[in-house]
Amino acid sequence: MGRAEMKTRRGFLGGAIALSLPTVAMRSARAAAGANERLTVGFIGTGNQGMLLLRRFLEADLGDVAAVCDVNRGSDGYKEPDDVRGREPARELVAKDSGRAGADECAAYDDFRRVLDRRDIDAVVIAVPDHWHSRMTILAAEAGKDIYCEKPLSFAVAEGRRMIEAVRRGGRILQTGSHERSNPVSRFVCEAVRAGRIGTLRRVVTTVGYNNKVGPGPGWEPMPVPATFGYRSWLGPAPERPYHRDRCLYRFRFNYEYSGGQITNFGAHSNDMAHWGMGLDTGGPVEIECLDAKFLAPGSLFTTATETRFRCRYASGVELVCESGTPAVQARFEGSGGWMQTGYQGTTASDPALLEGLPSPGKGRQSPHSLHLANFVECVKTRAEPRAPVEIGNASAVLCHAANALIRLFPRTGPGLVVEWDPAREAFVGNDDAKSMLVPEQRDPWA
Ligand SMILES: NC(=O)c1ccc[n+]([C@@H]2O[C@H](COP(=O)([O-])OP(=O)(O)OC[C@H]3O[C@@H](n4cnc5c(N)ncnc54)[C@H](O)[C@@H]3O)[C@@H](O)[C@H]2O)c1
Repeated sequence: MGRAEMKTRRGFLGGAIALSLPTVAMRSARAAAGANERLTVGFIGTGNQGMLLLRRFLEADLGDVAAVCDVNRGSDGYKEPDDVRGREPARELVAKDSGRAGADECAAYDDFRRVLDRRDIDAVVIAVPDHWHSRMTILAAEAGKDIYCEKPLSFAVAEGRRMIEAVRRGGRILQTGSHERSNPVSRFVCEAVRAGRIGTLRRVVTTVGYNNKVGPGPGWEPMPVPATFGYRSWLGPAPERPYHRDRCLYRFRFNYEYSGGQITNFGAHSNDMAHWGMGLDTGGPVEIECLDAKFLAPGSLFTTATETRFRCRYASGVELVCESGTPAVQARFEGSGGWMQTGYQGTTASDPALLEGLPSPGKGRQSPHSLHLANFVECVKTRAEPRAPVEIGNASAVLCHAANALIRLFPRTGPGLVVEWDPAREAFVGNDDAKSMLVPEQRDPWA
């Protein structure tokens, strides 16, 4: 049975029957398709996003998943209490993926270095908290793996440079998980703006979501670490801290020791779109100002801004304003000849003629995640540049980190502090407080 036939048969008969196919039949189907053409992949981090990517990868039949890895064996606490994520649920998902060659051979690890040791693994998908991205990416590149690494590419400005170096030195393919780059609608808008459809670009307004979880306030009590959770490995390079469940799974993004709040969560997408429309694949602004920032009471477990607004000026004269809101509009581009905006609630423009050629979001269209993963797999095979290579992922992350530095200073400085930014050096010019905010506290042996 060939792959196409097997897929049709799976679609027709459904998963349960396909599951009963003997393993030997699956293996021969794989051989018939040409084993050399199929990628062998490991998934590192199988939480909220890792599990989604794993599902999309399996649905689109993009390769064989030989390993999954997570420091969490399997626990709830995601969107619903019975919504379980972690390495065992991930391994089971691969095993249940009916008719998949080699599904029975998927190993589950708690140490990502065991995945990198596997010589049969061509590529890894990294979907761990931000404070782990650079270490895993660099070690994966050194181990000869191609890499799909979630956004924001880095956790700190200096990390991005090291990631670029490791990826380019090793001749690796890296796709940043900025999947809007594979969204046909975002592509249309950003490329149209880039091509001058709204005239000279003057201003971009981007949105980041409000914090969508509530964490414990001042005086919170540590909790016992669950037996199924490798908390020390989760912390990795981050400072030693008492465990609380709201520190870790999903909610790490609201704590500056592991992430940058919604500025790097949503902002890594919307500000990446801003750069895309500006025609800026590398580099960044020349001036940044925080206009507003609100925080929870000191001593709260969540430390990131709950609401914020910042402004940047680019050498081209374009102004970028990024603000908290409901991200119905991710990016609005204003030019000398009109405006266009796009986001989770559609795409509009000052004149409908500006949207001529806009792809319809149409039912049945593949999700941007699937398209982005497929682009990665294709590039691993052809060695072409993926849509969101390491330099693009870095530039968008650096902008968010620089803005976050001033956002974090805002309670002390108040409004009106405009700081010069050198995009070539990726550094603030002449403000030591701002500079110091770019260097996170980290510890051995990962520091
Ligand atoms: N592209 C997107 O739209 C999108 C959406 C959501 C999240 N993300 C990104 O994905 C990443 C993960 O976010 P999430 O929401 O899935 O968080 P999460 O907490 O749900 O998942 C992270 C997983 O990584 C595991 N992990 C932590 N340290 C590990 C280690 N040393 N080795 C192996 N596993 C480890 C955790 O146990 C957890 O299961 C973040 O960088 C986030 O920004 C991207």
